[in-house]
Amino acid sequence: MKALAPSILSADMTHLAQQIRLVEMGGSDLIHCDIMDGHFVPNITFGPMMVEAVRRSTKLPIDVHLMINDPDKYVAAFAEAGANYISVHREEVVHLNRTINLIKDLGVKAGVVINPATPVTSLEDILEYIDFVLVMSVNPGFGGQKFIPNTIRRIKQLDEMRSSHELNFDIEVDGGVDSTNIRELSEAGCNIFVAGSSVFGADNITAATIELKNKISP
Ligand code: DX5
Ligand code: ZN
Repeated sequence: MKALAPSILSADMTHLAQQIRLVEMGGSDLIHCDIMDGHFVPNITFGPMMVEAVRRSTKLPIDVHLMINDPDKYVAAFAEAGANYISVHREEVVHLNRTINLIKDLGVKAGVVINPATPVTSLEDILEYIDFVLVMSVNPGFGGQKFIPNTIRRIKQLDEMRSSHELNFDIEVDGGVDSTNIRELSEAGCNIFVAGSSVFGADNITAATIELKNKISP
């Protein structure tokens, strides 16, 4: 499965349901929600109430990316709000195995996120327990940043680990993804592509979604 996950961080919040409709029309597969608390990252976004509003706007699966301190406290609230995927940062969570089980026990797909400077190899002993890895291709906190090039190598490394361990977790990428790099990311082994400003910042949101989808389709 190759899936496109537009991030509503760059959407026009005054017309959120309509903006989601535009990416649905372009064939979007997931809706990505960026949760920031002003502590783990320097920015603040929104919480479960907004995810619940997204839930009422679409039937697409919702992908919740938690950039917050102490995510264990909040995963149940996001699951209840309608999240289908929840990811937590490797750099924040001490008892990662426990947090992953907590997410899975709520019937939600569980993922681990790594920042650009966190080694892919630090995931070695959790890979068999998770549904997906989210590789950050910018430093988390803001939309519209420049893609960090060594992400391609990191995704290839993860793809090799997936084959050598005979696992089938998804590999997701987030940050600076656009029509210039999405095909190479796909060829490197990435399955899920988050795109914020390259979709919602476009003049024609549906056309931008279709263009990205075409580049990841076989
Ligand atoms: C950044 C967020 C991203 C953000 C991506 O911290 O995790 O999901 O929305 O935005 P773009 O695609 O504009 O880099
Ligand atoms: Zn994100």
